[in-house]
Amino acid sequence: MTEFKTYLQAGYPALYVQTLEPARAIETMSQQVLKAQGHPYVWDIQSGVINQSTGEKVADQADPNAAVQWIADAPENAVLFVWNFHHFLPSIEIIQAVQNGLDLWKSKGQCLAVVAPKVQIPVELERVFTLIDFALPDQEALDRILSDVASSASLPVPEQADKILDAAMGLTAFEAENAFALSVLDPEPFSCKVIASQKAQMVKKNASIEILTSTDRFESLGGLEQLKTFALQIAPSPLARGLLLLGVPGCGKSHFAKALGGELGVPTLSLDFGRLFGSLVGQSEERVRQALAVADAMAPCVLMIDEIDKGLSGVASSNQSDGGVGSRIFGAFLTWLNDHESRVFVVATTNNISQLPAEFLRAERWDGLFFVDLPTIGERETILKIHAREYGIALSDLPDMSAWSGAEIKSLCRIAAMTRSTLKEAARYVVPLSRSMGEKLKTLRDWAMSRTLPASSPVSMPAPPERKRKMARRIIDN
Ligand SMILES: Nc1ncnc2c1ncn2[C@@H]1O[C@H](COP(=O)(O)OP(=O)(O)OP(=O)(O)O)[C@@H](O)[C@H]1O
Ligand SMILES: [Mg+2]
Repeated sequence: MTEFKTYLQAGYPALYVQTLEPARAIETMSQQVLKAQGHPYVWDIQSGVINQSTGEKVADQADPNAAVQWIADAPENAVLFVWNFHHFLPSIEIIQAVQNGLDLWKSKGQCLAVVAPKVQIPVELERVFTLIDFALPDQEALDRILSDVASSASLPVPEQADKILDAAMGLTAFEAENAFALSVLDPEPFSCKVIASQKAQMVKKNASIEILTSTDRFESLGGLEQLKTFALQIAPSPLARGLLLLGVPGCGKSHFAKALGGELGVPTLSLDFGRLFGSLVGQSEERVRQALAVADAMAPCVLMIDEIDKGLSGVASSNQSDGGVGSRIFGAFLTWLNDHESRVFVVATTNNISQLPAEFLRAERWDGLFFVDLPTIGERETILKIHAREYGIALSDLPDMSAWSGAEIKSLCRIAAMTRSTLKEAARYVVPLSRSMGEKLKTLRDWAMSRTLPASSPVSMPAPPERKRKMARRIIDN
């Protein structure tokens, strides 16, 4: 991404810096302004305009509109950083002041730099401001903070500093300093656990994302060997993006997504697309960006987006149905999926392809598009063993379970346990879904056949029907 100082050199008159650390951002960027022979000024509603290099108050303007107009009187190459200005931008006075000022600022190498935690630009100014992200502290910056905290606590810098810095990646400088300070008080100073729990706070503050505490593992998921092997192979790679699992209901997609983090030894986050639809237009894209930024900060992690069709349904017709909010959320997600460099491995699940936009299903978006079908005979046996053991059921007197899903086999075992009956008796209470959704299942399979990989290991084709013997028997019967 192009950096602040490049835009400065190129003479951009209006920048919008998105950051959760306005003070650190202004401090860092002011240094860059000085290096480029410019003059940094800062405005906030309490202090008016302050000259950053001298600390001197140069204008008493508490009024945001007067602050913008002040730029015309500022020296050439002045940059005015305006703090919390997203609250004022939507007013007509400010919109007009910015529009009227632009040409003059450009001719004098001046710049208005809005510094705000979120992007909230009125439509009149959307094309005027250039958006810049101010990155969170890198390892080096965190290392300095760690040394400062250690020296204030009169402790040596911990030996495993690298691990601690890794754990703190994604925190703001303020949060990292707090987390380090808190970890000093732990019986084991500078413990990564304390820092990780501080990070978990970030997730808790975000309504559309949560940390899963599921204890599901692969050993309690029968079959799906090809999917399991592939995921374990690629997920640790920095190049990995994620998997899209399409499949028949109740066949272990969600279970797989929840278990993968545990298998890889990283946390699993769950993102609810449905909750991302805010009531205010514009707010939703912001929410998806914030949620994905939290996931980035939690990396390495698995990000599960369960039943993604529920959130994205209607995206194709979104312009009519919701003013385009759906397609913008979706666009923001796809951009992130393509571009993110953090080690966030996405596992999205769906059993309804018809609602998903075609771009989403293009294979190169994902590392793999897998189809999770009803379990094979061998897989059914494994699944039955898993759940019979879980519920303490004897494996005798088995019912016919062809075309049953994993969920139905599990439910059979649970019913047998509750009714204290054999599996065959309990089978009366289970109506397999495949019976009622035969046609739907066929459409799904046909679609998946040429476009997806099977989650189960390829099975050898069933033996051809034994015609000869039947004919022989028929002859005998006759
Ligand atoms: N292959 C399997 N091995 C063991 N248990 C399974 C298997 N498939 C499904 N189950 C069990 O069935 C229940 C439902 O599975 P899960 O929620 O993962 O299905 P799903 O594919 O996500 O279904 P849906 O499409 O309806 O969301 C879970 O408790 C899970 O443990
Ligand atoms: Mg599911």
